[in-house]
Amino acid sequence: MTSHAASEEPRGVDDESSGMTIADIQAAYADAADLAARFDRVNRLLTGRYRRRQFADAEGRVLEVACGTGTNLRYLPDSVEYVGIDISEAMLARAWETLDRVDVDGRLERMDAQELSFADDSFDTVLSSFSTCTFPDPVAALDEMARVCRPDGRVLLIEHGPSDVDLLARYQEYRAAAHYERSGCRLTQEPLDVLERSTLVFEESDTAQLGRITTITARPPRDGEVDR
Ligand SMILES: C[S@@+](CC[C@H](N)C(=O)[O-])C[C@H]1O[C@@H](n2cnc3c(N)ncnc32)[C@H](O)[C@@H]1O
Repeated sequence: MTSHAASEEPRGVDDESSGMTIADIQAAYADAADLAARFDRVNRLLTGRYRRRQFADAEGRVLEVACGTGTNLRYLPDSVEYVGIDISEAMLARAWETLDRVDVDGRLERMDAQELSFADDSFDTVLSSFSTCTFPDPVAALDEMARVCRPDGRVLLIEHGPSDVDLLARYQEYRAAAHYERSGCRLTQEPLDVLERSTLVFEESDTAQLGRITTITARPPRDGEVDR
């Protein structure tokens, strides 16, 4: 493991473009970090197989966007050179503890996913899980992932979304407003719709858990492909 770099206050902290601001989200995750760390084992029981499948082939210089408590670190090959970013200091503090426990080498920084401070084409793999549902502007965050990923690299995502079982989807719809109010997470956001609006190019996807979990493989646009 290498150094702990503290970044400056991320830009857009008071951006009120959609519902919760970045500051609101930071406050929500300051409260949630301990709980998330305590329930990490349960989380891995429910989602570990998808994380393992989706991230096992991550390679080279890897950026994880919105790394949370570092749950995905356990599913990455030891060979990667890892950089994790998150907007929440509390989540990052937990992620450092996780980084200390695994064999992956890396560092963590506080940063806004919607305005990454990395150069274009600087990562071989960009990955993120259960995150775009919380970004005030998820399309901007996906565009940033496309920008910092090398043209021949991969963007690997796991997202949640509405179930394809009608009764469950209606329950999610019923819960959506209260859930957003409490956690800043859009329960019924369609991950593939968001991807479609971004510059990322879709490669493949799969769903699990009655359609609630979607894994997506995408890539940056190549020369000659239209920028939206
Ligand atoms: C539901 S948690 C998912 C954490 C982790 N990726 C996982 O799979 O367990 C969402 C994470 O997104 C982070 N987050 C929300 N908005 C962000 C932003 N604009 N930039 C960076 N991280 C953000 C939160 O702090 C939180 O750690």
